[in-house]
Amino acid sequence: MKATLSYLFLFFISTFFAQSWQAPEKAKNVKNPFSGNKTSIEKGQKIYNNLCKSCHGVDGRGDPVMIKTLIPPPADFTSKKFSRQTDGEIFWKLSEGKGMMASYKNMLSEEQRWSVINYLRTFKNKNSSSDTIKTYKSESFSFTELINNQTTHIIRPKGFGLVIQHRFGATKLNQEFITNFMGLDLAANIRFGFQIPLNKKMYIEIGRTRYGKYYDISGKYKIFNQSEKFPLSFAVYENIAITTEKEPQYPEGTKLANGEKFKYEWMYRLHYDTQILFSRKFNQWFSGQAGAELIWLNLHPVGDKAYVLALPISLRFKTGLLSAIDFEITPNTHKHTMPISFAYEVASSGNHIFQITITNTDRILAQNILTTKSLKHKDGFMLGFNLIRYF
Ligand code: HEC
Repeated sequence: MKATLSYLFLFFISTFFAQSWQAPEKAKNVKNPFSGNKTSIEKGQKIYNNLCKSCHGVDGRGDPVMIKTLIPPPADFTSKKFSRQTDGEIFWKLSEGKGMMASYKNMLSEEQRWSVINYLRTFKNKNSSSDTIKTYKSESFSFTELINNQTTHIIRPKGFGLVIQHRFGATKLNQEFITNFMGLDLAANIRFGFQIPLNKKMYIEIGRTRYGKYYDISGKYKIFNQSEKFPLSFAVYENIAITTEKEPQYPEGTKLANGEKFKYEWMYRLHYDTQILFSRKFNQWFSGQAGAELIWLNLHPVGDKAYVLALPISLRFKTGLLSAIDFEITPNTHKHTMPISFAYEVASSGNHIFQITITNTDRILAQNILTTKSLKHKDGFMLGFNLIRYF
């Protein structure tokens, strides 16, 4: 009992004083003569591993055992509270010490003390999860596709990406919504995509779509990123899709538009999608993108054209640190299609994004979306989801 009471007493006293460990005013303005020096950081790392790691931990957040046993616990070098201090203040604390934190005035030379401070400053940027969240926050778009439209985003140069796009059947906001269970009871389309980075500016993707049994291969190249000098990001994209559906049945004597006898060739299986894309992050809450797109079909129904020209427009409104509302519309030259999509996007980290989608098409490849009739308002809508994961 006595031990517990004195422990509690010590705890309150020490937490009270812990909060009040302030370096004196005059320490604040002392300049670090080795600031930003790379060899100094390396020297600091050696000192840290020998003398500080046992309490402050490998990642600078505090050794897990020491956090539980020391009162107050070792300082967290990735915290805001720590970062806000000047090098001068940290130098003073390191030199003077307090409680379990020894005074290093006599143990380390001035240069050694500055070096270890330079190393302490590196912890903040090392934490990988906050790094990916940082990228998530800084890019106009969080992923290579917004809902159906491509974005100017390029996956990072290490690892790979996985995309699952799923569209249910059409439903309406009446009793159909219940009877066909939001369209889930009906036939559904799904595409799997696997993304591989080639370098910092380019990646390729291989995909498989259920409808039409399409395999597609695409590449995207980022020409430049929005910067202070130039207000737009700019990328080019090419996708070639091949249907592996059985050869279609057609009556003897079917003719091509030019009068020649029709014979199905494997070339007819290929459909192309070419895009140039411009995006802009206007502010922390709003990003927009516009582009020009050309769809080319090697085989198309008589009366249609072999190509469709389109102007994909994509908008993203952030609703929180890790959530957004997405919108797309793609005006085009096809008679019967006007793709419109909405999505609510949530990310559990910059590595993992989930979207609930509302679209007026169940096609996923642009070659299909822009050549298939989209639903009219009165015919309902399609629900679905996109799942995106970086590894
Ligand atoms: C025996 C464990 C232990 C060792 C070893 C240790 N520290 Fe500490 N350190 C602490 C504790 C505990 C505190 C918190 C002291 C307080 O706030 O009263 C602390 C606080 C600090 C602070 C102040 C942070 C702030 O924002 O107030 C700095 C800077 C620091 N340590 C640097 C170092 C460096 C550099 C080394 C190695 C040269 C080192 N420590 C070694 C336990 C240790």
